[in-house]
Amino acid sequence: MLLEVKNLNIEFYDTDPPEKAVKGISFSMEQGEILGIVGESGSGKTQTALSILQLLKSNSGISSGEILFKGKNLAGLSGRELQKIRGKEISMIFQEPMTSLNPVLTVGRQVEEGLKLHGEGFSKEQRKAKALDALGEAGLPDPEGIYGKYPHQLSGGMRQRVMIAAALVTEPELLIADEPTTALDVTVQAQILELLKEINAKHGTSILFISHDLAVIRKLCGRVLVMNQGVVVEEGEVSRVFDHPQKDYTKKLLAAIPDRRRSLRKRRRSQ
Ligand SMILES: Nc1ncnc2c1ncn2[C@@H]1O[C@H](COP(=O)(O)OP(=O)(O)O)[C@@H](O)[C@H]1O
Ligand SMILES: [Mg+2]
Repeated sequence: MLLEVKNLNIEFYDTDPPEKAVKGISFSMEQGEILGIVGESGSGKTQTALSILQLLKSNSGISSGEILFKGKNLAGLSGRELQKIRGKEISMIFQEPMTSLNPVLTVGRQVEEGLKLHGEGFSKEQRKAKALDALGEAGLPDPEGIYGKYPHQLSGGMRQRVMIAAALVTEPELLIADEPTTALDVTVQAQILELLKEINAKHGTSILFISHDLAVIRKLCGRVLVMNQGVVVEEGEVSRVFDHPQKDYTKKLLAAIPDRRRSLRKRRRSQ
């Protein structure tokens, strides 16, 4: 098993009593799997994602539970030990590439960052070659041209591709993607999903993909966890969960969010 989250609890300490954002969730991921987490805003998805690499802000933390990555409990590691895993074996991409990219550094510098941090003894030339490879893999048409550009010179879709290149340059085993397509228009969103699928198929990169958008989850993921108010309410193969939901909450979620396939089916029935 690549990742095993066991009875994870996350609390906010700046409220009295502490507010529980995540209440005893458990799930696991196999190597090469694309697992989705879906749920309404505030259901605890981001807190769960951030906790895996101990990236929670200082007002919240893991109060109990285990996060086993290849058998090692990440929740018990020191900052130094985590640094070795973060951005190397596990990378993360976020919703807003503009806030995650540094506006004053070139694309090339930022894509190479992971290689520098993990000091694998690559020469400057080797780092550049790897960065250009990663930019190409992320579907950017002119890696050489993009390499020297600054984030503000790129479109939103291109910035998200740069983020993906920076996340993948170290060839991580697990990519955690928290709403990576939410800020993008539908066409670009579809391209990014296609890209993630290709990366998964080509390199076997496991992807933990978080979204409030059921249609996006359906397109990309094999299995899905449905979260509500800090708990996992339902879990299973995407087709089973979406076509034959068993829990009332999942049924409500499916009914509330327009899903083109479902509305087509409904329209056909009413004709
Ligand atoms: N600074 C904060 N203080 C207290 N509670 C917070 C804070 N930020 C988020 N929360 C709570 O944590 C819960 C989970 O939030 P989050 O993981 O961001 O949800 P999601 O990503 O699913 O939208 C929510 O119930 C939210 O109200
Ligand atoms: Mg979130």
